[in-house]
Amino acid sequence: MLVTPPIARAATSPRGTSRVVPTGVERPYGREEIIVSKTDTKGVIRYANDIFLRVAGYDESEIIGMPHNVIRHPGMPRAVFQVMWNTISAGEELFAYVVNLAADGGHYWVLAHVTPTFDTTGAIVGYHSNRRWVEPEIRDEVAAVYARVLHTEAAQRRTSDAIAAGVAALTDELASAGHTLDTWVWALAGRDMAGNQTAGRQMAGAR
Ligand SMILES: Cc1cc2nc3c(=O)[nH]c(=O)nc-3n(C[C@H](O)[C@H](O)[C@H](O)COP(=O)(O)O)c2cc1C
Repeated sequence: MLVTPPIARAATSPRGTSRVVPTGVERPYGREEIIVSKTDTKGVIRYANDIFLRVAGYDESEIIGMPHNVIRHPGMPRAVFQVMWNTISAGEELFAYVVNLAADGGHYWVLAHVTPTFDTTGAIVGYHSNRRWVEPEIRDEVAAVYARVLHTEAAQRRTSDAIAAGVAALTDELASAGHTLDTWVWALAGRDMAGNQTAGRQMAGAR
């Protein structure tokens, strides 16, 4: 069953300027850092850690209370967020590669682990996302798939048609390589983490 993501306000900069324009400049962060945010059930940001604030380039007072699409990058297919909301609102976790837009128009790739938070009765009371560094080689591979899905979405006039076409394009492309979204992300993450450890050892050796 497809779940419609909650309608969030259009992404506007909390600084009161209009939409943030991507600059193509990457925002640096450390391989060991974890970028964290928590939201309510509608995706409104209720918590962001210091690393989130630094990398996304916002003050806490600007970001708390904003819909999470405030950092949505135009290079992200709608289909990925559709699958994300579908999964987490069903009470399950999701791993996904995401490129985000910082306040200054820079971008940063992450491997996001998004989970629902439950109360004692088992009801979902919010969501939590932990994000980690992505190796450049993996980013390029994911970006190529996302670009094809975006192309398919862009051919549709209605948003609902774009989402449906995007989900179909993503599912079909991954299926032709023998993957679901989940197994694809895990296959990439395995290589990603191996690269991360090698880089970590090299950095430790250089010290
Ligand atoms: C816990 C949580 C974390 C999220 N993190 C991000 C994120 O890092 N970047 C992003 O673009 N959307 C994120 N989203 C999804 C947004 O809520 C939204 O669905 C997405 O940005 C697409 O927005 P749009 O439908 O307005 O295009 C997150 C949602 C939740 C619940």
